[in-house]
Amino acid sequence: MTRHMGRWAWMAGAVALVALAASIKPLPAGPAPAPPPDFKYVGTKDCNTANCHGAEKPKGTPGLDEGTIWTAKDKHSKAFTQLYKKDSADIAKKLGIKTAAQSDACTKCHTLIVDKANVVAGKTWSPQGGVSCEVCHGPAEKWLVPHSKTEAVKWEHAESIKHGMTDLRDLSVWAADCVRCHLKIDAALIDAGHPRLNFELVDYNTRMPPHWATAKHPSQQPGFDRKAWAVGQIVSLREAVVGLLERRKAGAPQKALQEAEALVSAYRATAGLLADVSGDPSEELIKKLDGLVGAVAAPGDDFAAKLGGLTPVDFDSARQLALAYRVFKRTPAIDKLCEQIAAEKREGFDLAKFKAELDAARK
Ligand code: HEC
Ligand code: HEC
Ligand code: HEC
Repeated sequence: MTRHMGRWAWMAGAVALVALAASIKPLPAGPAPAPPPDFKYVGTKDCNTANCHGAEKPKGTPGLDEGTIWTAKDKHSKAFTQLYKKDSADIAKKLGIKTAAQSDACTKCHTLIVDKANVVAGKTWSPQGGVSCEVCHGPAEKWLVPHSKTEAVKWEHAESIKHGMTDLRDLSVWAADCVRCHLKIDAALIDAGHPRLNFELVDYNTRMPPHWATAKHPSQQPGFDRKAWAVGQIVSLREAVVGLLERRKAGAPQKALQEAEALVSAYRATAGLLADVSGDPSEELIKKLDGLVGAVAAPGDDFAAKLGGLTPVDFDSARQLALAYRVFKRTPAIDKLCEQIAAEKREGFDLAKFKAELDAARK
């Protein structure tokens, strides 16, 4: 996967909404083959030295222990080596893939393959790093040195963004960056035993674990998770619609279509409380969602009551609803429900039992 946010095709926002806010930014297109990056990669080693992001313990904001957290606790650091394990070999075998770690069908999400021409001379890029720093933060060639010398050189975050850093501080970019790997997947992979993908931004941020969660980071401000949840829902719905359209276009089997439709409906139910997201799954709807993502506001205190009007109809909608309550009306009973559904297999999911427990929990 040689993809780079800065060069992603920026799609036009919905015309009707353009006047709404100057800040409306269309979303980057999803995981499609992308042009080669404008900037080169330096490799994880240069980020994680003891003096930079490889500190043993947090030092402030940023913590500078991001590399230590990522290596020890973040599954992304093992995403590539995961492809050597038996589970991966089993999936690959069913798909007729000889070696998962050498197949684009797997590496496009489990790591980043970078051509030598796109690696800074003298540096090494290894796919072994899995989903490493530059996969999310963008190629560091032009910002690595200046951004690390903020005292001597005046170098703001915006300067890094101009030089190839992905602007993850923008929640719509943040959400789109996760969603590009976490939602849409070929039906054939699911048939072969790959876990079904599901995404809710606040939940995944919490579980990552968040190496950004230092005292002064914007994510620690009150209301941040509400906004993140709302943006995450719109971005996820958009990706789910893209996924459904792709499956329709490919003439996917009925079961695969139903799965994609269930995901669209689940996100649409919750996102529908934020904005009008009705309309047939179509290019039009995608454009409308592109327009909405920059305009969506953090829901207020009345939102838990609005969630009360929703009834889950299947595993996907149950999961999204439980996770929404965790953001807007967190109680031990809701936490328990979220843990339960995270561990639950969707086959044999007992909807009636879940509904009864949810009704008791949300009283
Ligand atoms: C669209 C992106 C995408 C593609 C393509 C993809 N994966 Fe994954 N894979 C993921 C994500 C995301 C997860 C984590 C899912 C979760 O827990 O929410 C995952 C999880 C897994 C797991 C379970 C890991 C664990 O910790 O238990 C295995 C095994 C796996 N993938 C193997 C493969 C293989 C083999 C291929 C190629 C045939 C492949 N994946 C292709 C995104 C992808
Ligand atoms: C899966 C995606 C992902 C990976 C991999 C990742 N990050 Fe991050 N990182 C984020 C997100 C999202 C944020 C929060 C938004 C922000 O502050 O830019 C963040 C924030 C940060 C911050 C905090 C910035 C601040 O202003 O406080 C630093 C520093 C950082 N990451 C360094 C790293 C390093 C070093 C690595 C590799 C060891 C890494 N990240 C790997 C997604 C990722
Ligand atoms: C380049 C693709 C890619 C991107 C971008 C990405 N992920 Fe992942 N993520 C994966 C894969 C692949 C796995 C599975 C790793 C494994 O278990 O081997 C994973 C696993 C995870 C897990 C562990 C899930 C579990 O079941 O334990 C969390 C949490 C997660 N990602 C959160 C995020 C968040 C939050 C972002 C955005 C800031 C993000 N990811 C961006 C590919 C990606």
